[in-house]
Amino acid sequence: MKITVVGAGNVGATSAQRIIEKELADELVLVDVVDGVPQGKSLDMYESAPVELFDTKITGTNGYEETEGSDIVLITAGLPRKPGMSRDDLQTMNADIVKKVTEAVVAKSPNSIIIVVSNPLDVMTYVAYIRSGFPATRVMGMAGVLDSARFRTFISMELGVSVQDVSAFVLGGHGDSMVPVAKYTTVAGIPVTELIPQARLNELIERTKNGGIEIVNLLKSGSAYYAPSASAVEMIESIVKDRKRILPCAAWLTGQYGLKDVFVGVPVKLGRKGIEQIIEVKLDDGDLRSLHASAEDVRKNCEKVKA
Ligand code: NAI
Ligand code: 2OP
Repeated sequence: MKITVVGAGNVGATSAQRIIEKELADELVLVDVVDGVPQGKSLDMYESAPVELFDTKITGTNGYEETEGSDIVLITAGLPRKPGMSRDDLQTMNADIVKKVTEAVVAKSPNSIIIVVSNPLDVMTYVAYIRSGFPATRVMGMAGVLDSARFRTFISMELGVSVQDVSAFVLGGHGDSMVPVAKYTTVAGIPVTELIPQARLNELIERTKNGGIEIVNLLKSGSAYYAPSASAVEMIESIVKDRKRILPCAAWLTGQYGLKDVFVGVPVKLGRKGIEQIIEVKLDDGDLRSLHASAEDVRKNCEKVKA
């Protein structure tokens, strides 16, 4: 298993660390445009191997030669949000980066599975999909796992219960119009609506929607990366180990949920072949309308980028 992480910044480097510490790859390549950064971070990680006891071979580079034959490529290259910036402000700058990165990746690893993290997530996943020419099963975006993890954390904090018992799905685009679905949110199988009054649940849903900006405002420079890297690596683990986890990921829809030709967050089955199934769950009318509105936002933004 060879995994390439493009972008050796906060999300990329932390993802790389999680991948090697979980021994998900025999070989890991970290790529960045900044001279010395991927090389330095890779060597630093390599030197943790005798302590952490992993055998992954790690290479840092500013080029793509070393990425040849990768099975999975995680794209985190791009600029993060600053306070006052929306994810969409990043769109034009990051689209150019993701186009170049995708072309370079595909030239060396034509059979890889691409997972996009760069924002605005759904649009960047669309850019990678178009540029790669890959089947839609092999291009996906990470956002739903993160947004659901945030929702699960807030519910566990509210009820004082283990996060392990909290299950939740946040669907839709990774933006202000994301759709936390209360109907499929449970605590040890109990619908969350029986445990938290609707008004309070609405507050937790709002906090989830603003989960990214809450961290940006606290950090003042840069955006979240511990939960995002954990989320991306959960997807990678399901693929590497062919675990067939059902995780919310940005996937190319071809009619599911009444939506077509758009990337949006929905539950998918993730295995060694990538997206092996898009799971269609029955949504209440309100949630379905919200999912459609969210997809429409993504579609409008995709039209603005020349993918
Ligand atoms: P960062 O600034 O720490 O790292 C980004 C890295 O990309 C930098 O090291 C930069 O040199 C590199 N880079 C820029 N252009 C490149 C190119 N052409 N080729 C290779 N590397 C290049 O940012 P961070 O925090 O790691 O975030 C990365 C991206 O992920 C941002 O767009 C951010 O908004 C997004 N993000 C998305 C999340 C999601 O849920 N989908 C969650 C967290 C971050
Ligand atoms: C987040 O939700 C920045 O989109 C990223 O934290």
